[in-house]
Amino acid sequence: MKSFEYCVPTRVVFGTDSLEKLPAQLEKCGALRVLVVYGGQSAKKSGLLDKVLAILSGAGSSHQELGGVQPNPHLGLAREGVKKAIAMDAQLILAIGGGSVIDTAKAIAHGAANPGTDIWEFWKRRAPLTKSMPVGVVLTIPAAGSETSDSAVLTNAEAGEKRGLNTPFNRPAFAILDPLLAATLPVHQVACGVSDILMHTLDRYFNPVTDNALTDELAEALLRVVLEYGPAAVRDAHDEKAMSEIMWAGSLSHNGLTGLGGKKDFATHQLGHALSEKFDVYHGDSLTAVWSSWARSVMDESPARFARFARNVWHVEEADDTAAALAGIAKQESFFRSIGMPVCLGELSCGKQDEAGLADLASRCSYGKTRTIGTFRVLDYEKILAIYRRANEA
Ligand code: NZQ
Ligand code: ZN
Repeated sequence: MKSFEYCVPTRVVFGTDSLEKLPAQLEKCGALRVLVVYGGQSAKKSGLLDKVLAILSGAGSSHQELGGVQPNPHLGLAREGVKKAIAMDAQLILAIGGGSVIDTAKAIAHGAANPGTDIWEFWKRRAPLTKSMPVGVVLTIPAAGSETSDSAVLTNAEAGEKRGLNTPFNRPAFAILDPLLAATLPVHQVACGVSDILMHTLDRYFNPVTDNALTDELAEALLRVVLEYGPAAVRDAHDEKAMSEIMWAGSLSHNGLTGLGGKKDFATHQLGHALSEKFDVYHGDSLTAVWSSWARSVMDESPARFARFARNVWHVEEADDTAAALAGIAKQESFFRSIGMPVCLGELSCGKQDEAGLADLASRCSYGKTRTIGTFRVLDYEKILAIYRRANEA
């Protein structure tokens, strides 16, 4: 087991009607001036935004709004939010939404706490982040896990870069998780969310450290629960039981728990980020479009590990490790397909790519051949390109 530190300070307020507990959370944070951040339209349309604003007024907190956050959120809007937060002397940034809104709120918090530094400097690791300010979350989509994660992902459209920043300052102060707030989600967003939740644990489970008994068991349990309840949540976003399981799994899958003592791989996430960066495809789509190609390409690194996944998660009974491993990958791929997710590049909105397009993706993913990705198998530009080719041919 690798040494680790584990600190998830986010107060999770889970359950139907947990929004009623927002005033108590604001009070704990001493938040009298709040910048409310939300997305394109769903929070307005559902009435949730008005509800939250009324709660803020009732709690005696003054507030301003910043709407319009898009999926794969843009640096430009976050910069606008920083200016707004500084001008109003905000004490808390409140995100109403999913990963895109929460990550924008995190960026605003970092920028407002460090007015002399452009936020992209933190994402490019050119400036160290040593302080921030509190972020609160009202979650509307179980998916990215940003409500408890130490990560935030932004797209710099001018530079053509999608980058993540991992820091303890990214952990929100509180997260309100009411499964019914996700009931208005379109079917495909639920499927994207279910897939992302699975991927946050899969991208940890497949790593080179294999003596983590408890972590592995926790990971397998989470995967089984998401596989069991995911399809019901996709069929009916009003299914409170299914959505409850998925929402809680989403927060646990990406707060570090299912990878403790291991060495995060996250190659599939990096392969996916290049696709979202170039084609603006949804994060969940970008992951399932490459996962099985990644898995089949790296499986020979440890057929035993893939066989364990197949047997413990998918109940595969093959005695031979390689046969079991291949069966597990096929079952996972069929699951993604069954909930309407793409499993190859041709099924993404960008469609199949020519060789130059694939080379461009590999170049973006390897930061112009300057980095490798993954730990289960370390992937350089050539290996990344081979996986994109495989996903293109699938
Ligand atoms: O903008 P609105 O109108 O709100 O619509 C959103 C958006 O179109 C819609 N939506 C959200 N809640 C809804 C709803 N529609 C109806 N009813 C509701 N209750 O869903 C769409 C997607 O929203 P988004 O926030 O983009 O989804 P998600 O949570 O999947 O976040 C994706 C972003 O998070 C990043 C991804 O890269 C991507 O940029 N990630 C962040 C992570 C983190 N910070 O820890 C980790 C992840 O691996 C991921 O990289
Ligand atoms: Zn993800």
